[in-house]
Parts: sequence; structure tokens; C-alpha cells
Amino acid sequence: MPEDWTWEYEGWDPAEERLRESLCTLGNGYFATRGAAPETTGGPAHYPGTYVAGCYNRLVSSVAGLSVENEDLVNLPNWLPLRYRIAETVDRPASAWFGPNHRGLLTYRQVLDLWRGTLTRQLRFTDRLRGDRRHLGVEQVRLVHMGSPHLAALRTTFTAEDWSGALLIESAIDGRTTNAGVERYRELDGHHLGRIRTAAEGPDILRLRCATRTSGIRVALAARTTAWPNAADGRAPQPVPLRVRLGERTAAHHLTVPITPGQPVVVEKVVALHTSHDPATSDPDAAALDQVARAPGFADLLESHQAAWERLWRRAELDVSGEPGRILRLHLFHVLQTLSPHTAELDVGVPARGLHGEAYRGHVFWDELFVLPYLNLHFPEVSRALLEYRHRRLPRACRAAEQTGRAGAMYPWQSGSDGREEAQKLHLNPRSGRWVADHSYLQHHVGSAIAYNVWRYGQASGDTEFLYTKGAETLLQIARFWASAAEYDPAAHRYRIRGVVGPDEYHDAYPGAPEPGVDDNAYTNVTAAWVLGRALELAETMPEPPRQELFERLGLADEELAGWEDISRRVRVPFHAGVISQFEGYGDLAELDWDGYREQYGDIRRLDRILEAEGDTTNRYQASKQADVLMLGYLFPPAELAAVFQRLGYAVDDALWRATVDYYLRRTSHGSTLSGVVHGWVLARARHSDAWKYCQEALTGDVADLQGGTTAEGIHLGAMAGTLDLVQRGLTGLEIRDDTLWLDPAPLPELSEFGLTLRYRGQWGIGLRMKPGQLLTSVPESNEAPVRFVLVDRAWHVTPGTERVVALPPAE
Ligand code: BGC
Repeated sequence: MPEDWTWEYEGWDPAEERLRESLCTLGNGYFATRGAAPETTGGPAHYPGTYVAGCYNRLVSSVAGLSVENEDLVNLPNWLPLRYRIAETVDRPASAWFGPNHRGLLTYRQVLDLWRGTLTRQLRFTDRLRGDRRHLGVEQVRLVHMGSPHLAALRTTFTAEDWSGALLIESAIDGRTTNAGVERYRELDGHHLGRIRTAAEGPDILRLRCATRTSGIRVALAARTTAWPNAADGRAPQPVPLRVRLGERTAAHHLTVPITPGQPVVVEKVVALHTSHDPATSDPDAAALDQVARAPGFADLLESHQAAWERLWRRAELDVSGEPGRILRLHLFHVLQTLSPHTAELDVGVPARGLHGEAYRGHVFWDELFVLPYLNLHFPEVSRALLEYRHRRLPRACRAAEQTGRAGAMYPWQSGSDGREEAQKLHLNPRSGRWVADHSYLQHHVGSAIAYNVWRYGQASGDTEFLYTKGAETLLQIARFWASAAEYDPAAHRYRIRGVVGPDEYHDAYPGAPEPGVDDNAYTNVTAAWVLGRALELAETMPEPPRQELFERLGLADEELAGWEDISRRVRVPFHAGVISQFEGYGDLAELDWDGYREQYGDIRRLDRILEAEGDTTNRYQASKQADVLMLGYLFPPAELAAVFQRLGYAVDDALWRATVDYYLRRTSHGSTLSGVVHGWVLARARHSDAWKYCQEALTGDVADLQGGTTAEGIHLGAMAGTLDLVQRGLTGLEIRDDTLWLDPAPLPELSEFGLTLRYRGQWGIGLRMKPGQLLTSVPESNEAPVRFVLVDRAWHVTPGTERVVALPPAE
């Protein structure tokens, strides 16, 4: 195993446990299970969660006198429970159940092994039984199988250190789970499961089936428990007989095993999880039973699981040394556990918080903008599946546009099962206890993110089969939406897009305005113009067929395209004080007393909550939650950004861009983990010396839980993938167009040495390695064609089986 691939946690810390549960989640793209302790089923420090990608349910709740409907990624029955106690002999009374809260807990250690994809827990207890002190050692290894996505397993090894007697064990499936992982949602109904049935099968299998209450997805789990006493004595061990206890919503096996010092007892639990949503499944209950009955023992499962992970790591190689490298590997691990090659078989999007918790209800936002560019160059089939999730919901997005009197596709800000708008109407400010109107559904810029991903995916993968069919259809309908949203303003001789919310969620209305939304958000307008530009490019370059067929089907005639051409060149971008305005009127808003607020509150990342609790609003101030205008520098390399503005008839030179960066840097609270990624990325080019601070913020966002306890409710997948892409594209300046890899490195002293292996247009293993002052490019022998690279003023080809080192211009 490569070194430094583990994350270790020492000691039991109830205050940190939910954070660890998130960070120690194991998953395989089909489902994931939080790193919760199997010994307990309750307590505030403990939140077991198992989530299947795309398994949503909708419920209506009443809050603040209003009836609100929410769709949630459902917390499924807990397959983990396994608890134990000791007795003097098999038929004598036993001790209390052990668990992390047991007063005799002596050691507690938890190791997340990224290379193997396992979570190992080591516990040591002492207890007095009949006056004698006894010590029990427990080692437990867990996996959620990366090769067979419906399987998970738990192996627990018990060691009696200084006593003989019996071990009493309960291994269960618990169907009493609800969605209760986010304190802010506590007033909402979280009872998503119904029709729960338990059963036993043969001597060693438990079954539990249920169904989501409104979406009617049938869910089935089957668990096989096997226990061997004296596992170390070399004789073929005899499994211990199990007693079945079936409750209405729980199913348990009980077993009593003799134990003596030096003769460990091993208990294995192998679990299968299926739903009626799975492809190629008719009866999830039968599928789970069949799978668990046929599954091999833990050792074989572990071996095939590790082999599957090894294959994944090979495709996603990212070699960065030191602490940044360790964190990046953890990020990659969680990205792959949420979006693995298994995801390519599913109809799911990018859940903002992974499959790691219930924040944002498992919804799909624009965060894929930070995820797909990374995946494109390693797992293009996963990117494509995620884009197909959007394409399947295109009719719904067209209907949403139509309902607001516009044409084309208006994608929802938050998407779930069927692509309707899932953004909440009200959200709770935990600081004030008030439910506040939520206008985030006006973030129509999500459409541009989807179009951007379609385009970049097409460039990186060369998958014209997708780009010229579903991809083009999606992009053209988004372009059409922007064209219909842009209103011509004769006074300004420009097109304007009014009533939107940009990426910065702190501005959802003008102060005191009766209607929500702001006008001419620069990010929205510029990306709209860019999308229209790409749509026109497609119209010009798409081959025949399928061009005519598609354009006819969409009713896209030359006249409409001519309109797009005009709009794409004349969308308005506001400016003030020599910088790009975040939106019309931003420069007229009051200045916030940043120092005063910092002094009073310390952490002011969630300034919106602070001000609302004071009876004020962020809408009044030049204060942004996250990168908004600066997002443009994240999406577009400098030359492309200048060209986009030039096409719009605005001169945005380097000086104006740097002034814009400085301006917003002073006015941003970084209340989203995405903000650190974008600022690190943009500053690496615009203000080199300050970049690392933001890169670090992005790197430590989840491991240090910088957003005030939110990681416990699920990791921030966009920021995790964004940090990978920060290395992959941000620091290398990598762009793919015209069958060429274009490079424009912006190495940071703190991260000046790294290596990547990319997959590009069907070619595997393209190597990029940066060192101070040099760049190494390589193409493996197995590839068929040479690869073309361009670095600012030089171009070269690398033929298969060779490498080429080029000197880099000195860093700024
Ligand atoms: C951010 C959004 C993001 C969402 C989900 C919010 O806090 O402001 O940009 O899409 O979280 O990650």
C-alpha cells in the first residue's frame, strides 16, 4: 500500500462523532453508509445513515403556519447494528452492552484506509463481573463493496484478554430510521419509510423490506451473520447457531459464543441492499436474498473490494506530496464513493453533500460545475451519465420555462427525482429561529453550469455521439431560455436579464423591493452570452446528419439563430468604480463594517444569518457570500475571458480584472465552501501571494469543518472535487480544445510539484508532472496516437511510449 493513505482518529469524542461519521462514510456510488458506531442505536452523538443514490421521497410538513413540501434523499434502514456483552458462562447473567459510551472504555481508535476502502475500529473495554476485572478487545473492519455495489460487510473480532466465559452478541437490521440528521429540519416530517416487514431465512439470514411512503420505492435488505469461536486455533471452525428475534421494524440475530484468552471469536455480517429503482430488478427483496445467500465470506469480499479500489485509484491517480496530498486523496476518495463507475448505470445527479448526510436533502444544485471537469478526464462515462440525468429532465425544465412565460429550458436550482424545482420556499435561520422566505429558485445560472459541462465534456472526451445529440439538445434549449429571458432595453442598446439571483445568495432582492431578484447579474449575463455563443458554434459546426434532424425537432430556424447572435453580442454587463459590478446597483449598496462584525462575532461566514437575526439583511450591503463575478475567472482561462468580454463589446483588460478581484475579495464572507476553491483558483493567477490562503481554506473546509458544524450533515462534494480540479486544471492551466492539451501553469510555491494521469479522448494514462521550473508530459506505450501539447509559446507532440520535459517560464 502507498504510504500515508490513512486517516486516524484517536479516542471517543461525542462532540466530534457526527463529523467523523461523515468523514468516515463508506460508499460505492450506488449507496453509502455513514461511519456510525454499530454498537448504539441512539444518542445525540450518533447518527447512522444509509443512502441509495437517487432514492427520494416527498412529504408535506407544516411550518410557520404554512404547508411545505420537501423531497428528501431517504435514510434507509440501518444495517450496522452489532452489539455485545460478556457473561461468566453461557447461561449466567451478562454485563451491560458495550459501546463507545460504556464507562469501561479504555481505548478507541478509528482508521479510515483510503487505499483499501475500509473503516477499522479498535476498542478495548474493561468490566467487572462478579468482582473480577475483565478486558475485552474488539477490532471491527467495515466495507461497502466497490466491486459489487449492493454489498456491504462488517467483520468483528473479539479477544478475551484475561478471562474465559461467553460473549453475547446481537446483530440486527433496524428499520426505525427516520430523516433526522439535520437539526434545522427538525420541524419537518422525516418519516419516509412505511410497509416495514421483517423475516428470517434459513439459519443465518435476516430480511427487512419496506417502501418509501410516497414515491413507493421498495427497499430490501438481507443480512447474513456468521460467528466462529476459536478462530485462531487452526481447526475448521463450526459456526455458532443463531436465535432469531423479529420485531415489527427490526430483525435481529442473537448468539452466545464461548470465549477464552488467545482464541478470538469472529463475527461476520454480510449485507445486501436493493431497491425497486435499480436497473434490471423486479423484486428487490428476492434480489437482496439471492445476493446475500451467494456472497462469499468477509475475506474474499475484502479482497475483491480492495482490487476494485485499486483499479479506481489507477484511473484517478493524483500524486501530491505532504498534507495537501493527504487531504486531496481524502477528497478524491469521497468523490469516488459518491460518483463511481456504478453511477454511470444510474439515473442520478451530483448530490451537493455526497451520500454522506441529509443536508440539502440530497438535492442536485449547480455544484456539478465543480465536479464534472475533474471526472471528464478520468471517468468520462460517469460525466456522461450525470449529463444524461439532466437531459432526461429537459422536458420538465422546458415546462418550467413555459410556466414563467419563457422559452427553452429553465433548469431548477435544486433538482431531485423528476427535475421539478425542489428549492425550499422557506428556510430556518437557526440564529433567530425564524423561517425566512427563500428565493434561491431564481438562480437560473444553474442552466449555464449544465451547458458549460456539456461543452467541456464534449471537448475532453471527444464524445460527439453525445455532444451532437442529447448534449446539443440540452445546450440549445438552455441557450433558448437565455435568449427569451433577455429583454432588449432601447435606452441602453443592450439586452438585460432581470429578476435573478446570482451565485452569491446574499443578494436575492434590492433593499425594500416588493419583488425578489436583482438585475443584470454579471455572472449570469456573461455565462448566458457564452452559452448562446456555444449554441451558435454548434449550429455552425454540427455535421449533417444529425444537425437538421435536431434543429427541425426543436423548431430552430435561422431567424431565431440570428436573434441569438445579436443577444450573444449585446448582453449588458454593469460596471462601477472601475470594476465589474456584481449586478446593477451593487456599487450603490452600503459598505459593511467588516472589522466591527468580525470583532463582534468572530466567524462571520454566515453573515446572512447574523444580519437577519439583528433584523437587518445582507441585501443592503456590498457583502457577498461567495465568489460571484470572480466565478468568471474560474470558468474561463484569461484569454477566453477577455474574448468573451470583447465579443460583448467591453474592454476587460488585466488591470480591470485585477481591480475586480481585489474589490470583491474585500467584500466576501466565504459562507460557502465553493468560495475558497474559486478564490484560490483565481488568485493563483491574479494575486499569487494570497492564493494559498484560499486554497487551504478549500482544502480544510471539511476536514476541519470550517462551515460551523455543517460537515457532520454531509461532506461538501463540490468543494472536494473543486480542489482536485484546482490542481488538475487551475494550477496547470489545462484546457482541451482543437485536439490539443493547452497548458498555462500557475504553480504555487506551496504546491509546485505534482503529477496527474489523465484519460483524454479514449487515450489512457496521459502523464502530466509539474516540478519547479519544468513540466513533464508522457504518453504510455499502449496508446495508439501521439498527443499534442501547447504551452504558451511552444507546441510539441508526445508519441506513445515517450515523454518530453519542457522548461517552464519562471513563476510570477
Ligand atoms: C451555496 C451554493 C451551493 C449550495 C450547495 C450553498 O451554500 O451558496 O452555491 O450550490 O450550497 O452546495
